[in-house]
Amino acid sequence: MRTVAVVNLKGGSSKTTTTAYLAHAFAASGSDVLVIDSDPQGSTVRWSDAAGWDIPTVALPVKNLHTRVQGIARPTTDVVVIDTPPLLENAGTVYSALRAADVVVVPCAPTSHEVEALPDVWAAIEEVQALRNVPTAAAVLFTRTIANASSTGIYREAIEEGGHRVLATTIPRREAYAQALGAPIRELGPYEAAASEVLALEVQA
Ligand SMILES: Nc1ncnc2c1ncn2[C@@H]1O[C@H](COP(=O)(O)OP(=O)(O)O)[C@@H](O)[C@H]1O
Ligand SMILES: [Mg+2]
Repeated sequence: MRTVAVVNLKGGSSKTTTTAYLAHAFAASGSDVLVIDSDPQGSTVRWSDAAGWDIPTVALPVKNLHTRVQGIARPTTDVVVIDTPPLLENAGTVYSALRAADVVVVPCAPTSHEVEALPDVWAAIEEVQALRNVPTAAAVLFTRTIANASSTGIYREAIEEGGHRVLATTIPRREAYAQALGAPIRELGPYEAAASEVLALEVQA
């Protein structure tokens, strides 16, 4: 079983959208998926209820996710996806999600504002490493990108120069995603490729 945590510093960074689409993409590729919504705001659980997801989705806004995930997953579960509250607002819960995670996905727009906040996320992952037997793999997923804008390449290079990974797949800014919350997910678009990249992520040497 793989546990994927979707983490960033602030609200509005596409964590919930990323969680929802990645979970559907994992399921579409044949994985038995469980979604855990650790954000007390509960947007993911509401989305799942409203849209009638086939994917089981549970609310678990707690600070001991690392001790709970194994017990909640079924024996057949292949992938657990954890949506998290903003690290800035709910550090305890996010740290426990980071402890639980094999893979951390950091959704981020290629803007100075969001990219400059990434070191706080790397620091949290680093801090949690000390508590884990197995290191976590982490990568940025660029979202809300503008087609043909040079910003995406420039920020990709900056993040990679800092020793961190950015998935090759990017998610464009689209009205369909802006309106997606609460509606059934039918078109996976680039999330399909993003999901296979996420499952292939290995711990960096
Ligand atoms: N690729 C995208 N294109 C356009 N809007 C997006 C995209 N991804 C997310 N959004 C919108 O950005 C806002 C924040 O996304 P959300 O997933 O709720 O972030 P978070 O969970 O980090 O607060 C929402 O209104 C969402 O619909
Ligand atoms: Mg959210």
